Amino acid sequence: MYAGAPDFRGIHLRRPDHLKMAMAVRGCVLLLLLAVSHVSDACFTEERIALLQISVSLLGTSTTGASAGRTPPTWLATDDCCSWERVACSNDTRRVTRLHLSVLNGDLPEDSVCRGKLNSTAFSAFPELQFLDFSMNYAFFILGSDGLAGLSKLRHLDLSYNCFMNASYTESLGRLVSLEVLHLEFTAMVGTLPASVFKNLRVLQELDLSNNQLTGNLPASLFTLPRIEHLNVSQNLFEGIPWSSMSNISSSFRTLDISMNKLSGNFSFHWLRNLTNLEKINLSGNVQLAIGVNFPGWTPPFQLKELLLSDCGIDKSIFAEPHFLRTQNCLEVLDLSNNSLSGSFPSWLFAPHSTLLYLNIGNNLLSGSLDQIISAQTNLLAISLSLNRISGHLPANISSIFPNATLLDFSGNTIAGEIPSGLCNISSMEYLDLSNNNLSGELPSCLFADHPILKTLKVSNNKLGGPVLGGKNNLSIRWEIYLDGNNFEGELPRYLTGNFEYTGTMDFHGNKLSGKLDVSLWILPNLWTLNLASNSLTGEIDASICSLTGIKLLDISNNNISGSLPNCNNPLELLFLNMSGNLLSGDIAPHGFFSNATVTALDLSYNQFTGNIDWIQTLGTVRYISLGSNKFNGQISPNLCVLQYLRVIDLSDNQLSGPLPPCIGDLSFQGTSSGLNYWNLFCGRGIQYPAFRYTSCYDQRGFRFFTKYNLYTYRQNFIDMFHGLDFSKNMLSGEIPPELGHLTDLKALNLSHNNFVGKIPASFANMSEIESLDLSHNKLSGAIPRQLSQLSSLAVFSVAYNNLSGCLPDAGQLSLFNMTSFEGNMDLREASPGSVCAAGSSPDGPSRWQPGAGGEEARDPALYAVSAASFVLSFWATVGFIFCHSYGQRMVLKL
Ligand SMILES: *[C@@H]1O[C@H](CO)[C@@H](O)[C@H](O)[C@H]1NC(C)=O
Ligand SMILES: *[C@@H]1O[C@H](CO)[C@@H](O)[C@H](O)[C@H]1NC(C)=O
Ligand SMILES: *[C@@H]1O[C@H](CO)[C@@H](O)[C@H](O)[C@H]1NC(C)=O
Ligand SMILES: *[C@@H]1O[C@H](CO)[C@@H](O)[C@H](O)[C@H]1NC(C)=O
Ligand SMILES: *[C@@H]1O[C@H](CO)[C@@H](O)[C@H](O)[C@H]1NC(C)=O
Ligand SMILES: *[C@@H]1O[C@H](CO)[C@@H](O)[C@H](O)[C@H]1NC(C)=O
Ligand SMILES: *[C@@H]1O[C@H](CO)[C@@H](O)[C@H](O)[C@H]1NC(C)=O
Ligand SMILES: *[C@@H]1O[C@H](CO)[C@@H](O)[C@H](O)[C@H]1NC(C)=O
Ligand SMILES: *[C@@H]1O[C@H](CO)[C@@H](O)[C@H](O)[C@H]1NC(C)=O
Repeated sequence: MYAGAPDFRGIHLRRPDHLKMAMAVRGCVLLLLLAVSHVSDACFTEERIALLQISVSLLGTSTTGASAGRTPPTWLATDDCCSWERVACSNDTRRVTRLHLSVLNGDLPEDSVCRGKLNSTAFSAFPELQFLDFSMNYAFFILGSDGLAGLSKLRHLDLSYNCFMNASYTESLGRLVSLEVLHLEFTAMVGTLPASVFKNLRVLQELDLSNNQLTGNLPASLFTLPRIEHLNVSQNLFEGIPWSSMSNISSSFRTLDISMNKLSGNFSFHWLRNLTNLEKINLSGNVQLAIGVNFPGWTPPFQLKELLLSDCGIDKSIFAEPHFLRTQNCLEVLDLSNNSLSGSFPSWLFAPHSTLLYLNIGNNLLSGSLDQIISAQTNLLAISLSLNRISGHLPANISSIFPNATLLDFSGNTIAGEIPSGLCNISSMEYLDLSNNNLSGELPSCLFADHPILKTLKVSNNKLGGPVLGGKNNLSIRWEIYLDGNNFEGELPRYLTGNFEYTGTMDFHGNKLSGKLDVSLWILPNLWTLNLASNSLTGEIDASICSLTGIKLLDISNNNISGSLPNCNNPLELLFLNMSGNLLSGDIAPHGFFSNATVTALDLSYNQFTGNIDWIQTLGTVRYISLGSNKFNGQISPNLCVLQYLRVIDLSDNQLSGPLPPCIGDLSFQGTSSGLNYWNLFCGRGIQYPAFRYTSCYDQRGFRFFTKYNLYTYRQNFIDMFHGLDFSKNMLSGEIPPELGHLTDLKALNLSHNNFVGKIPASFANMSEIESLDLSHNKLSGAIPRQLSQLSSLAVFSVAYNNLSGCLPDAGQLSLFNMTSFEGNMDLREASPGSVCAAGSSPDGPSRWQPGAGGEEARDPALYAVSAASFVLSFWATVGFIFCHSYGQRMVLKL
């Protein structure tokens, strides 16, 4: 009925004449005019209302307050929804045909959490709709049982980055028979897709289901859709391949991405024998998928551009008998990393005029030498051969071999010889990693001083030497320079300027740097991380260090630095400060050298600091404090207990006296590092190429916790998981507060070598997580509370050298510890059935476990070593798991 709109417009134009001639029908004309103005400018009322409803249903759903959630301005300016932004109508019918509703309210939630909701029936108002992009609204998209079924003309549907919730909803989308493109990635979909899902979408060309939590087998129907060109089911939890239908796989495929699932079974490239258009295939991250690529005599009908087979059960003969790979002459991206491929390094990949842009064969067992690459790889932009067995030298003409490289990663091999200065001639280079090789000689200074493109330079853990920074004092590096673990020597340049973008890193630890730490003439405003640990720096810290105002992490541990800490007018806003293992002395001024408002981890252990420790209580955000092995004195103030984020505190081996404040039992161990973003500050940027992903996280050397004369280095996640208190080797006295038993998350407690008296609190039985409990060398008396036999995580336990009496534990984990844990007590006896001991009463005879006098000193080292060993085991098992989980294999290797 609205098809006649142009006719109304015609009447409108002739109106003056008609007015004169037909005054009698004026009312009627006016009525018409009303209709005219309404219809000619307007779209369909129900479509307009539906659009406003859709917008309103998302309003107020954004994270950042009222201004963020808004209806697009033009939607309020006029009634004609066909003229609105993001909306397109058919010229003929004036029905809405296209809706571009991505990020409709102009704001992406920071946390990517879904909020707001939209009932899909809102779209039933648009019967002519052909294109609907509703992506990135982070709304619960509620698909009724009819779903979008009315939209029979819909060809393009994008619901990605919303919340979809249940895989069974896809059933109703399967009725949109005109669909050519369907995007459902990042929709938080869970469950199993129906086996015949989408089988009626006979014209579907593009389907993206990636980044959900879909389980079960990959539906057979996905592979046999007659027109399907692009299928992406990456990053789900799919388990099985529908191998019976794979022999009928649709020959229209161009892209097949089934990476990062849990697929097992076989995947045969023979299935792809009719796929003449195939360009990209990604099977990476399916560790249990056995992939067969080589079939004698088979010449594939396709020429791949991208072949990604990282970390999967790939045919180990892919290089040895290169039937398949040798047929692919157009490859641009090849990723065979993380596969334990052995044998000789495939130099034939580097043929003259190779089309490769990105090549990653890192983390295999390949041997050979870079000298085998003879022809110039003019197209190559990124190459990783890291973590292999590559030996030999870096070719002197390396810049003519990789003239256009942006990323070169040869780390973790056994490459020897010098670093050729020709590397500097690769003017496009942004990332160079030569760490963990056997390189020697000096570092060509042009790399860090005259290469304005280079962002990252890593030469850690080689045998490089010579003056640090080659005497240069002008750094061109933009992100980070890692020289650690070499033999660089000499003094740091007095004048040092740099080009760091936001968050610069200099890591020079583990070298032979000497002289005084004097940064008075440094101009490095964006230096965030400075690690000079484990060198031979001497002298006092020059007060000029206060001018490094941007610095967030300072590690000068294990040097010979002496004197007291300078007092800065504006204390350094450090997150991490490690000065352990120096000769530093003097009192610590609150808010003096470092800001009490920022410090998260503080290690001042193994110095000669003096004074009381009351300043600790001002460190409002601190999580880790180690002040062990200094000369701090005075008492532990109850004010310490205000530190709500404190997780690890080591005050051992000082001269602290007085009682332990009971409120320590109320430390809440709040906040996780991820929640507070403390540690991720150093991960703000990265490089991402096809087959490559590098995040420039500062490789935190970690902080240490001492227990049993052994120290454990730990990093980010450890501090989330680990809670430990070490007050050992002081002069603390009084009774052990039973409140400590409230610390149910505590993993390590060391109160040994103090003057504690009284009983072991029975409340310690509530420390259900405790792995190491040392109360030895005190003056504790009474019986070992029977309740302690409830503890089940203990790896280390000692109550040796006290005045305990009564029975040795005969139940639970405590009964498994041998005499070294109990020796040196006058009256501890073995329990036996029926004896007074079993009832827990006091002893009435000498114990046969009584140790010989004078045995204490001799036995201690053995005790400590043994106990520490078991603690190390359980500890590394935990950390190993954590790192596996969050960083993947590379991180574990770095441990
Ligand atoms: C609809 O009209 C607009 C403006 O008059 C024109 O630019 C566009 O090409 C037309 N579209 C069709 C499909 O005819
Ligand atoms: C969606 O809207 C339709 C029609 O207005 C209604 O029948 C249905 O119950 C709604 N679904 C939900 C989950 O709110
Ligand atoms: C998905 O929905 C179906 C039926 O609508 C239900 O049986 C199933 O439990 C749901 N699955 C999940 C994971 O919620
Ligand atoms: C598949 O989806 C993932 C995640 O959404 C994306 O990273 C990847 O590039 C996609 N694959 C292809 C071939 O486009
Ligand atoms: C493969 O396709 C052929 C012909 O189209 C059909 O007869 C056969 O049943 C299909 N096989 C499977 C496993 O779907
Ligand atoms: C695959 O191609 C072969 C010929 O190369 C043909 O005989 C066979 O029918 C094709 N299979 C399918 C499923 O199209
Ligand atoms: C690669 O390097 C060569 C020689 O340096 C140059 O001529 C060519 O333009 C570069 N190609 C690209 C894609 O940058
Ligand atoms: C830091 O110290 C100053 C002065 O001692 C104090 O006013 C401030 O509250 C402290 N900040 C925190 C976070 O404790
Ligand atoms: C105590 O047990 C450890 C193992 O936990 C063992 O190595 C050690 O030799 C034992 N010591 C004695 C004195 O039995």
